This record gives sequence, C-alpha cells and structure tokens, in this order.
Amino acid sequence: MELIQKSKELKSLLKQKKEENKTIGFVPTMGALHSGHVSLIERARKECDIVVCSIFVNPTQFNEKNDLDNYPRTLEADSILIESLVDFLFVPHSVEEIYGANMILKEFDFGGIENELEGKFRPGHFQGMANVVSILLNLVQSDKAYFGLKDYQQFKIVEKLTKLINLDTKIVGCPIVRESNGLARSSRNERLSQQAREAAAVIHFSLSYIHLFHSYFTIDEIQKKATQMIQGILEVEYLEIRDAETLGKITDWNNENGVFVSFAGTIEGVRLIDNICF
Ligand code: PAF
Repeated sequence: MELIQKSKELKSLLKQKKEENKTIGFVPTMGALHSGHVSLIERARKECDIVVCSIFVNPTQFNEKNDLDNYPRTLEADSILIESLVDFLFVPHSVEEIYGANMILKEFDFGGIENELEGKFRPGHFQGMANVVSILLNLVQSDKAYFGLKDYQQFKIVEKLTKLINLDTKIVGCPIVRESNGLARSSRNERLSQQAREAAAVIHFSLSYIHLFHSYFTIDEIQKKATQMIQGILEVEYLEIRDAETLGKITDWNNENGVFVSFAGTIEGVRLIDNICF
C-alpha cells in the first residue's frame, strides 16, 4: 500500500494504471475505520484490479464544530487495518489540497431529497458531503465507488450526484455490517458503555419488527409502535417510513419503489442511525 498526500501524484499514478487497462475501485472514508469499511474495501478488492481508499475528515459536512473537532483521527491504526487490501491510500495533507485556497462550495440540485430525514437534522450536511465526494470521484475517476448502505440517504444522493456531474463511475451500495446483537457497526459505537451497546440492539430489533409484521398494521400504527419500543432506551430523533427511491412519504405498503425505514436517535449522548429496506 502506497500512502499519497497530493492529488496530482494520485492522478498520475492512476493514469498509468488506466493505460495498463486496470480497473479501479474507490472507497472514500473519513477514517476511524472498522469492519464496515473493511467490507467495502474487500468488495472493491474482489471486483477491481486496483483499490484506492481515501481518508479525509471533510469539514464542510459537519454542522457542529464540536463534532468535527472530536471526530476520531486514527491514521496509524487505519493504515495497519487496510494495508494488505489497498494499493493507494490517499490522505490529503490539508483541506486546501481538496478544496483549493478559496473553498467555494457548489450547491447541487438533488430535488429536495437532501433536506429530508438526516438533512432536516443536519442542515447543509449533504451539500458538504456531495462537494467532497464530487471532488474525490472526479479525481480518482474509478470504474466503481463503494458506499455503505447504513448511510442510505447518502448513497441515494451520491447516485444522483454522479448523474448531475456526468461521471461514469458505478456507485455500489454495500450491506450494513452488524455486531452480533444486530447493532449497526459505526465508529461511534466505541463511545458507548457496554450496557448501552447491548441496549442499542433495540434499534435493529424494532426495524426488523416493522419488516416482519408491517402487513398487520397501517404505516402510522407500526411507526408509533416501533418508536415506542425504542423510546426510553434511546432518545428518538425520528423513525420514518418512506419511499425507498424518492424518500418521500408513502401511503400504503405496496409502494412500487419499495419501503425504506430510517431511524436516528441518541444514547449516552452518542447519535446512532440505522435503516431497513424491503
Ligand atoms: O460516509 C463517509 O464516511 C463520508 O460521508 C464520505 C462519503 C467519505 C464523504 O466525506
């Protein structure tokens, strides 16, 4: 694995690989890597000749300065975890390396999907995310780019983004990796006590309950029931049942785009998200 800090250098190394007709898989991350990230990298390894991973804590997608300041930076451990799976690890040496000196952000038109669910609670988050992802995708110009479906709304927005910026990169969504009790893997889980980590299993339990038993209830009924299951254990920000493509509200279970159930809440001050699609 080669560590690269300059965009120009990465570009020229990848140009060589493309001239040798190698396929390229790209996994953008913000570091603090865990088995969820490793599963994306392993998938890229299986499907592509060359694997590029980036680690960049993107300031423009944080709506709280505290969250940005406290975001774990664990480059040494991250490098060890992925060194046998990755060809090029891109770690921009500064924010200017990505955004240039002036940092002028674009405003993408995603048709409002960016203001739903997570977007409501984290204003500006998806525009910031889309800005960095568009810069990184344009730089790497990979055949495929891999994103975790735990951030389902992000995945749908990135799909739209590639169309807006006319990129040929195929966006691959990879299944959520879970702990043995069902809790979705996240770097944030490390900040929970053992007790909270066990208790937070109720999130996946209640989302699975919706999946299994939805046909016995109306959307409103089961939404209330599942929320009640979680409340008291976590502070629920939202539990919403939506259209899996548009993320808009749905009126019945036979929704032609499929059903997306999205959750966000906090326990011990740690914000957790999860979802299920069916
Ligand atoms: O999912 C993440 O880790 C980030 O949002 C991403 C896609 C790397 C952009 O900063």
